[in-house]
Amino acid sequence: PWGPAGGLHSWDAAPTTRTWISGGRRQHSQDVVLKVQSVIIISVCPGCTGALAKHFTSAYPECNVTIFDLPKVACTAHFALLFVFTSGDFFKDPLPAADLYMLARILHDWTDERCIELLSRIYKACKPGGSVLLVEALLNEDGSGPLTVQLYSLNMLVQAEGRERTAAQYTTLLAGAGFTNIQHRLTGRLYDVVLGHKDEAK
Ligand SMILES: C[S@@+](CC[C@H](N)C(=O)[O-])C[C@H]1O[C@@H](n2cnc3c(N)ncnc32)[C@H](O)[C@@H]1O
Repeated sequence: PWGPAGGLHSWDAAPTTRTWISGGRRQHSQDVVLKVQSVIIISVCPGCTGALAKHFTSAYPECNVTIFDLPKVACTAHFALLFVFTSGDFFKDPLPAADLYMLARILHDWTDERCIELLSRIYKACKPGGSVLLVEALLNEDGSGPLTVQLYSLNMLVQAEGRERTAAQYTTLLAGAGFTNIQHRLTGRLYDVVLGHKDEAK
């Protein structure tokens, strides 16, 4: 296991967050260190290059990375031979156990009820002491912007059943699924991160 000295920094968990941190819009308090050996990346775009998984693997070669997506995506993904690919429906099929689950631009597709349903399934599959990392564009708490995120939200309303949310709204969803010690980071870039933990004892 990775210890704090050589551990995976929580905000490194998505490879691009390294640059996000340095461009952060706000000061943040103490960081946490995650002990991560197994990672599940929940869903990638059909036909995409698997860039998140590739970056993660090159930054943390000790980690086992598994991509989980619908069977039709497994057939089209260019990276199928590079990573373990588990196909299934994340609302129905068993999710593999892991230390960290990364969901980039997934929850914004769904209603609050569906988000809690998915997060609850992840919470159950997550190893004790594990975490979930959301990569989403966060709205200001008063909904006043950023303009790009407001426009994304409109787009999600038209194209899917979801919307963009504030950090507090994601915190409510994560807490509703059982996650604790929820923290978020604004990056100063388009995508921000929200991290939730599952207690060691659970
Ligand atoms: C908006 S894309 C986000 C993809 C990627 N994480 C990104 O940031 O580009 C949503 C992804 O969710 C997957 N997806 C949708 N419904 C799913 C389900 N029920 N089970 C598993 N994956 C699903 C889609 O196949 C797609 O890859």
